[in-house]
Amino acid sequence: MHRSHTCGELRASHIGQTVTLSGWVQRSRDKGGLLWIDLRDRYGITQLFLEEGKSDAKVMEQARTLGREFVIKATGKVVERFSKNDQMATGDIEIFVEQLELLNASKTPPFTIEDESDGGDDLRMQWRYLDLRRNPLKNNLVLRHKIGIEARKYLDSLSFLEIETPYLIKSTPEGARDFVVPSRMNPGQFYALPQSPQTFKQILMVGGYDRYYQIVRCFRDEDLRADRQPEFTQIDCEMAFVEQEDILNTFEGLVKHLFKTVKGIDIPSVPRMTYDEAMRRFGSDKPDIRFGMEFQDLTTAMQGQGFAIFDQAEAVLGIVAAGCAHYTRKQVDELTEWVKRPQIGAKGLVCCMCNEDGTFKSSVDKFYSQDVWQKIAAQAGAKAGDLILILSGATDATRKQLSELRLLMGGRLGLRNPEEFKPLWVVDFPLVEWNEEAGRWFAMHHPFTAPKPDHFDLLETSPGDARANAYDFVLNGVEIGGGSIRIHDRKIQSRMFDLLGFSPEEAQHQFGFLLNAFEYGAPPHGGIAFGFDRLCALFGGADNIRDFIAFPKNNSGRDVMIDAPSTIDQKQMDELYIATQPINE
Ligand code: AMO
Repeated sequence: MHRSHTCGELRASHIGQTVTLSGWVQRSRDKGGLLWIDLRDRYGITQLFLEEGKSDAKVMEQARTLGREFVIKATGKVVERFSKNDQMATGDIEIFVEQLELLNASKTPPFTIEDESDGGDDLRMQWRYLDLRRNPLKNNLVLRHKIGIEARKYLDSLSFLEIETPYLIKSTPEGARDFVVPSRMNPGQFYALPQSPQTFKQILMVGGYDRYYQIVRCFRDEDLRADRQPEFTQIDCEMAFVEQEDILNTFEGLVKHLFKTVKGIDIPSVPRMTYDEAMRRFGSDKPDIRFGMEFQDLTTAMQGQGFAIFDQAEAVLGIVAAGCAHYTRKQVDELTEWVKRPQIGAKGLVCCMCNEDGTFKSSVDKFYSQDVWQKIAAQAGAKAGDLILILSGATDATRKQLSELRLLMGGRLGLRNPEEFKPLWVVDFPLVEWNEEAGRWFAMHHPFTAPKPDHFDLLETSPGDARANAYDFVLNGVEIGGGSIRIHDRKIQSRMFDLLGFSPEEAQHQFGFLLNAFEYGAPPHGGIAFGFDRLCALFGGADNIRDFIAFPKNNSGRDVMIDAPSTIDQKQMDELYIATQPINE
């Protein structure tokens, strides 16, 4: 027997029992004739104790040879601790060791296996199995497990079936780039790994499985960020015979269930905001509504005063940072530099201090009198002591820039508390958006999303104005989920492909299976997919999804532990009909 209990289990009520524990040596302390070892496993830490004269001399000697991360098995009696530790669940007791067995030695780990490790990101990624022994990562994976279990329980209670869909599928031109897999049995042909099971879940609806879900891996070859991994997991769902309202209610229920069961938090009914309103008020389709600092349209108020930059701008937009009128020149310069970075792309920033004495001070005072500032401040809702931050330019770009500045200021003012949760449905997304570079329309969500029924005609006249029955679930400024009501009519689907620039032949080649399925009794349907990793990170109070995935990729898309991707040998290449040189050279 390797263990009678785990290292997190023993309490005062076990005193007097003989137990066997197995685990890793967290640390040991040798004080003269007394030796303590902290033994760790997934469940916690238990203190082992040996004493010269009282413990067997051989066992004592063996215990002194144990290094950090050695794997041992210890048998002994549970005794009351002389000095109790109320920070530890097992802090009332210790084990007086009678027998010790070394199960495996360990080299000295390259970083400390403590809650606050001294190892940098790269080192910890390379020795991921050691990093996984640390509490923060372990707690994240336990949290992930709980969220997964509770999602399954909720969906199962509503008769959703978990059905697997294939990972080797067909490459599609829309969306992100595909990861592709060469087919040995079909020379020169490739599978693609799914970016999501989108078309399969729709086919399942045609197949009669009216409530489907899957906790499923998705693959996208796109640039990485803190909240993006090339392989990530979705809670992917689809329902037939539903309207948007049914879907929003069902999945609001899922999120409430998860908050309640996993975090013990009651989430009130989730507010809704249209895409247009979100863009107007917050400059973002995923606004963080934990704080206000809403956009103020100052275009009319600020134009016509002789300041050419504002006069020529399509939009002059501002936000009010409460209590920041005391900002120094240096702080304002720093903010100006921040918005001018290429990632943000603003040309400049105008700041106006609303001084406590009722006067105003800005860098453009030669154009704006105190009276004008008074009116602007009143319109923007700025009080004495506040700072007005103003950007101008083309509407879309200015909104985007100001949205970034708003998030920065919200963070600096402590308004983005990770323990506060403010979910939001953003609804009525545009159906398509124009891509200047490609010179064509792209689906804003995906090509299977249905236009609002009374917007069909706009596809012919002004597609950009058509709105879709598409929605995102946003939590604290992060897009956690997205979905839509789908097209289930072949003619409308064909029209959509046509709008997106597919010839009928291309549409048939790429999506013929779906178009055909729509001719055999496709029910009305719709669905949503939640980013499982993002949800876990938010529940865990973190921004980076990496530490909620057991084996993530680094920023270059590499798994540095197994060193992938890697080259393959010529024999494998030959079997797959892949030439080392481009084929046509
Ligand atoms: P969408 O592309 O919006 O929708 O994806 C759904 C959710 O998946 C998460 N997500 C990601 N998480 C981590 N890394 C990534 N690279 C990544 N990309 C997306 C986001 C996002 O909200 N088939 C549709 C859903 C549907 O219409 O039902 C889809 O995949 O949280």
